[in-house]
Amino acid sequence: MTGRAARRALALLAFLAGWLVLTAAPASAHVEIISSTPGDGTRLTAAPSQVSVTLSENVGIQPGSLKVVDTRGAAVDTGPVFQPGDVAEQVAVRLRPGLPDGSYLVEYAFVSADSHPVRGTFAFVVGTGPLITSAGAVAAATGTDPTVDVVATIVRWLSFAGVVLLGGLVFLLTCRPGGRTDPRARRLLVTGAWLTAATAIATFLLQGPYAAGRGLGALLDPGLLADTFRVSYGKLLLVRLAAAGVLALLLRRLLAPPASGRLENAAMITGFVVLLSFSATGHPVTDPVMYFSVAADLAHWGAITVWAGGLVQLALVLHRPPPAEDLDPVVTRFSGLAMTCVTTIAISGGVLALRIMPSVTSLWTTTYGWLLLGKITGLVILLPVANAARKAVLSGVGGPGRRAVATANLTRLRLAVTTEVILAAVVLALAAVLTATPPGG
Ligand code: HEM
Repeated sequence: MTGRAARRALALLAFLAGWLVLTAAPASAHVEIISSTPGDGTRLTAAPSQVSVTLSENVGIQPGSLKVVDTRGAAVDTGPVFQPGDVAEQVAVRLRPGLPDGSYLVEYAFVSADSHPVRGTFAFVVGTGPLITSAGAVAAATGTDPTVDVVATIVRWLSFAGVVLLGGLVFLLTCRPGGRTDPRARRLLVTGAWLTAATAIATFLLQGPYAAGRGLGALLDPGLLADTFRVSYGKLLLVRLAAAGVLALLLRRLLAPPASGRLENAAMITGFVVLLSFSATGHPVTDPVMYFSVAADLAHWGAITVWAGGLVQLALVLHRPPPAEDLDPVVTRFSGLAMTCVTTIAISGGVLALRIMPSVTSLWTTTYGWLLLGKITGLVILLPVANAARKAVLSGVGGPGRRAVATANLTRLRLAVTTEVILAAVVLALAAVLTATPPGG
């Protein structure tokens, strides 16, 4: 391709990206009920044979997601949830034939494509009599258990930390090849793989009680485990678990000499699968142009893992430098890589925010927006710290054979890198809360 053609292709790509960010409808948040038959508050002259709902997104057939009860709380639906027609977003449940006159409450509980539960109720009346509501005779299950919520957020944060530690592999392969045999560097990577695996199992166990609004006591409920397995989120968690296991096995051989390009490629592909298991289950999948947001999320995640994973590895080597190792080339290589990563994080984060938030004003009118502002502030504070580290590197590199960084600027560099690691951990915690917060709320 000539330089002119390449420039044109880039301009076209930039135009398409800009057009997608600014013009397409933003993500619609969690699944919603568009309509139902019978409708909420309807008074019917004859008992219906089924209750059906049309949802804002195709979430598949989720067993137990629709229940109908009478005023005493007794179930009046029969058989499983099914699709009554060709519309993928429509699901229904059959009712007992010949229901007597009275009020009926429909309880729904769906897991959105982004893994968050949505629950609620609506009611209808057959014949005369008062219309019951969820505050009436039957307690409707809405909201999530607060303890499960907190534990799930902590587990999500730990899962982010696990993936970040795994990202340190890129640092070892590209910036510090001499560190491949350093047992402390290897231990960090293996910890990352096990943390990713352990948090995938914990997230799988928590998802059932989280979606059903139950407490930690329901962690091993066989019905809830089966429900989690049926939804794509549960399957992707098992894929993440398998990928983390493969990485744990690969790491052992990958870091032992001699270097193997094939093993490195296998590790990168498996790492990509781990990242995809996050990006394909979060808010980006609710975007009407899903592939665009999932790709932006992958770029965001990829840059975060390389940058923050590298920072942790760098902090380790700076705090206890191996006596015979020249750190100049290591910090110089990482400095360039980190700049590219931070630029990618800021651009992809901005693109994601524009795609996921319902409007720009939600930035200061919603909890989601405030959390996002917190992340942006974290990055803004990080920039001068990263710049200080960069200056320490630039002034410290004194030429071949001189280990200037390891002497004159080591203290400055250590302080800057440790501060960056702490700030990154705080921003990761904000991201863990953000991914569970509805974009419109
Ligand atoms: C300009 C700065 C940033 C902006 C505007 C931004 C924005 C976003 C947005 C909109 C999301 C999607 C959240 C959702 O699913 O609802 C996201 C995800 C995420 N962000 Fe950021 N972010 C920024 C910086 C950072 C930094 C510095 C870190 C890490 C230290 C970080 C870590 C994450 C993580 C781990 C996720 C979750 C990815 C996933 O689960 O797929 N972000 N970010």
